[in-house]
Order: sequence, then structure tokens, then C-alpha cells
Amino acid sequence: MLSEASPDKILAKDRLTKKDLAHLLSLNDKQGMQQLFDKAYAIKKKYVGTTVYFRGLIELSNICEKNCYYCGIRKENRKVERYMMSEEEILQAANEAWQWGYGSVVLQAGEISNSRYTSFIENLIHKIKELSNGELGITLSLGEQVENTYKRWYAAGAHRYLLRIETSDRKLYALLHPESHNYDSRVECLQILGDIGYYVGTGVMIGLPGQTVERLADDIMFFKRIDADMIGMGPYIPHHDTPLACCLGNFDDIKQDQFELALRMIAATRIFLRDVNIASTTALQALDDSGRELGLKAGANIIMPNITDTIYRRGYQLYDNKPCLDENASMCRACLEGRILSIGETIGYNKPGDSPHYDRKRTRVRK
Ligand code: 5AD
Ligand code: SF4
Ligand code: FES
Repeated sequence: MLSEASPDKILAKDRLTKKDLAHLLSLNDKQGMQQLFDKAYAIKKKYVGTTVYFRGLIELSNICEKNCYYCGIRKENRKVERYMMSEEEILQAANEAWQWGYGSVVLQAGEISNSRYTSFIENLIHKIKELSNGELGITLSLGEQVENTYKRWYAAGAHRYLLRIETSDRKLYALLHPESHNYDSRVECLQILGDIGYYVGTGVMIGLPGQTVERLADDIMFFKRIDADMIGMGPYIPHHDTPLACCLGNFDDIKQDQFELALRMIAATRIFLRDVNIASTTALQALDDSGRELGLKAGANIIMPNITDTIYRRGYQLYDNKPCLDENASMCRACLEGRILSIGETIGYNKPGDSPHYDRKRTRVRK
């Protein structure tokens, strides 16, 4: 007979409760976990398929005005040599992504807010659209901005925005950030982005100090509440020059647990949200060489190959042991291609790869 705690019973349900999610997130026996991943994979197959979409990631600057306690490029980390890629370098990377058939690029940077920067990005968006005959999709991951900035970038041609909530628990949020970083402002930004019409991506870090499986279950419910189209999340990995670095003790001792928790979070999110896009992030690969493939096997369907010029990669280390610091865009491409094919999946070249969730939402709005 199945016990109350067996994942079979939970996985057979049509709708999961917070308690169910927390239970799935705490599975730690091999068999239970495999059942969870298999169920998530079946749901992924049914709702989004097994074609992986590439988003070429351009880390255009490591300058940041913020001071998140966990992040290696926080403003107060004076050891970081700051950079800003030139327009020409960014356009070159975008062009490469387009030539290679990547559906879109992600422009990511630390948080900078001033009018010169707003115009710089706006101009870049126009130029990327121009060089690709309007074909290359543009995702922004440039932090919290005022509504008018989001609107200008959207009008210029960016149609997706990634802004992680980091944790949906406001108390934990307050512990991870200085007082000036406001949880409500972050939520408001996500709402504004959705209202403007962006395809909204959000996510959390998994395995943060003080985070419980109940809080992670709440995070999944939060993704649903704000009607996210894309989820990008990965394990929290300490960076040695940050205030949070020591909180988890010797990280090597818990690395495997942290990795498995991240995979369970991807699987539980896939099962709960079904038709969204979920990224298999670089941080997974930082903990396990096969991390990104295993992320796909646990329910993710998006990969963001790094296309940042190798000379800048060392400057963009949000956490320790970030992979691919010495590789270039074409090496990452070949490497990821091989990894994806090795698990029997295909790559959606020359396709935008918006989530079915987003398409459905747009139809709903138009009606
Ligand atoms: N470990 C894992 N992810 C991190 N990020 C920042 N610092 C870390 C870390 N130490 C993530 C945050 C941010 C994204 C750009 O990188 O979630 O939103
Ligand atoms: Fe800046 Fe983002 Fe790092 Fe926070 S997580 S310090 S906003 S780059
Ligand atoms: Fe960069 Fe493997 S993903 S070399």
C-alpha cells in the first residue's frame, strides 16, 4: 500500500497543494526523485515539447548600483574590475547569434539607471532589430527601472524581460538585501512589465540560507500568481567576496544536495505551471558537469549559451566556479549542442520559442 508520503499519490493528482509541492521538494531517495523527474519530463513533452530554444546571453556590463549580499558583482565588491562593452562589441555578438540561428539574445547587466544608459540600450535594441531584419528576439535582464524606461525599451523592440524575484518571501528578501532594496518595488516592476506587454520571466535562487521547502513551494505559487511566462532559476552558490559567503558553512559538503534541490525545484515548477518556458541555467553546470542536461531532463526547455566575448567573462562572476570563463561563444555553442543531442532532444534554431503560456495569454488579451 502507498504511504501518505509516497510521491506516487501526489504525482497522480491533477492539482497540487503547497503541502504537495513542499513534499516533492524534499524527496531525497533516488527512486522518489526519479519518479518526480519522469513526471515533470512527461508534462514538459506534452505542453512544450522536447525542442530546446537557445537565447544568446550577452553580459554587457558588470557595473551595478546595487549591493545584494549574495552577488559577486555587487557595488561594494571593490575587487571587481568593472567593464561596459561597446556598442560595436554588443552588435557583433548579436549578429553572431543571429547568423547562428539563435532565436533571441538576452542583454544582461548589473543594475544601472540613468538617462544616458536608457538611451544607450534603446539605441542598441533598434540596431539589433535592424541588423537582423527584425527577426532576432530581444530579452532584457537589466534590473529594476522606472515604467517609462521599460516602455521605451519595449517600444524600441525588446519583447521579453527577465527580473528574478530572488525569493518571494519578503522576510528572507530583507535578509538578503540592504534596506534600500525593496521587495514591493520588485513586485511592482514585474506587474508593470506584464502590463506593458512584455513576456515576463522571473525566478529565484534555490538553497539560500534560511530558505525552506515551504518557502520554495510559495515561490512556485508566486510564479503562478504573477502569471509568469518564463522561469529562470538556479542554485544559490556562494561567492567568496560577499557578505553571505560563509552562511552555508563548507559549501563542498552540501554541493550535491544543493544541486538535487535545484533539480527538484525545476521539476515541481514544471508540474505545477505546465506550459511556461523554464531555463536550465549556468549555475546548474557550476555544480555538476552535466548540470544543464539534467536540468532539461527535470523539465527545463531553454538554454542560454553565453556569447559574451571571452575577455569579459572573468569580470562577470556572480558566484564562484562559474563555468566557461576561458571558452568563447562558438565553443559554448558546440558544447551545448552536443549535450542536448546526447539526451535525445533537438534545438529550435531560427525559431522564437515563446512559451505556449505567453501565446495563450496574448490571445486572451486580444479577445
Ligand atoms: N548564486 C546564484 N545565483 C546568483 N545570482 C546572483 N548571485 C548569485 C549567487 N551567488 C543570480 C540572481 C540574479 C541573477 C542575475 O544571478 O538570481 O537575479
Ligand atoms: Fe547587482 Fe543583480 Fe548582482 Fe544584485 S544580483 S548586485 S542587482 S548584478
Ligand atoms: Fe560553455 Fe560547455 S557551455 S563550454
